[in-house]
Amino acid sequence: MVKAVVLGAAGGIGQPLALLLKANPAVTELGLFDIVNTPGVAADLSHISTPSKVEGYLPPNDGLKSALKGADIVVIPAGVPRKPGVCIPQNPIRPQPNQLISLFLIDDPINAGIVRDLANGIAETAPKAFVLVISNPVNSTVPIVAEVFKKHGVFDPKRLFGVTTLDVVRASTFVAEILGDLSLAPKITVPVVGGHSGVTIVPLLSQSSSPLPSGFAQDSLEKLTNRIQFGGDEVVKAKDGAGSATLSMAYAGAEFAAKVIRAVGGEKGIVAPSFVNLAADKVSGEALKKEIGKELEYFSAPIELGPEGVVSIRPLGNLTDYEKTLVNAALPDLESNIEKGVAFIGNAK
Ligand code: NAI
Repeated sequence: MVKAVVLGAAGGIGQPLALLLKANPAVTELGLFDIVNTPGVAADLSHISTPSKVEGYLPPNDGLKSALKGADIVVIPAGVPRKPGVCIPQNPIRPQPNQLISLFLIDDPINAGIVRDLANGIAETAPKAFVLVISNPVNSTVPIVAEVFKKHGVFDPKRLFGVTTLDVVRASTFVAEILGDLSLAPKITVPVVGGHSGVTIVPLLSQSSSPLPSGFAQDSLEKLTNRIQFGGDEVVKAKDGAGSATLSMAYAGAEFAAKVIRAVGGEKGIVAPSFVNLAADKVSGEALKKEIGKELEYFSAPIELGPEGVVSIRPLGNLTDYEKTLVNAALPDLESNIEKGVAFIGNAK
């Protein structure tokens, strides 16, 4: 019996994500919360002939608490998406630092406040649930959830995940395109580490399960890396004012949720990258800090999942010189994004 809850379920990501969770036979109950439209979304989904019972909730009458009651897994795509013009790097290979900052200045405080309020609800009603954060900027919203949970005395770092799966999905797809065979895409795994915005996204293409063609040129590698880092911009631009990456994100979110559900159900050996608190597993978390040469509290790395959530954080392994440069370039942004999230809740050390 698995109750999954989507917070922000009426949105561009929320609706297709709710559909994919409804299609997951392991989910037996689906709670949908948003500030608008959830009764309609729930009524629509409830006609689909899969096992789960679906309920829609709105804020009046403690709707958030009712939605969260008994939740095993909570996925959060609530918030405000990016808008065109906000985030297109003028130089696609090497965006300037000020362009990257502009990516996140506009909607940050709004999303931060939304995520904080939802985290309070989870801490009060479903403190043991696995929490999967999609709302951007993930590098800051995950620390926000953690700090709220700490205030309530219910923080378990094993159960909190920043969803970075879209970066992994894009990397697999783009590598398959380069190999000229999209049928490979579902099988290709590329670890994507670091964080979940711009230069903090570090695809370890040298570790792709299907290697890039031999002699793949360095400038092609840099273009591919940049395409993975800024894939969201490609979609925002193409949608031209009608939203950001919602369908691919819903797919990625449902994939990650399905992995967590399978691991919690006892399936062994499930590994997926995610942005986690490095205290989730002390030994492997400390080893990762040594590997990156920095005392960061959070990092995205391949995570072994189990019944309690994080079992261990996998090492980055052998990196090429180019990948080492990318990891080093990610660290300052990551550190400041994390600090921003922590400071937002006011627990800054
Ligand atoms: P959207 O605007 O289509 O949907 C957001 C939904 O959140 C709306 O239905 C809205 O009513 C709801 N919402 C707002 N305040 C709420 C509250 N206090 N409680 C519950 N629901 C609330 O936006 P979209 O495109 O679905 O994006 C949602 C978030 O996901 C954004 O922060 C976006 O940046 C992020 N995102 C994350 C990605 C990732 O890879 N992690 C990829 C793409 C987007």
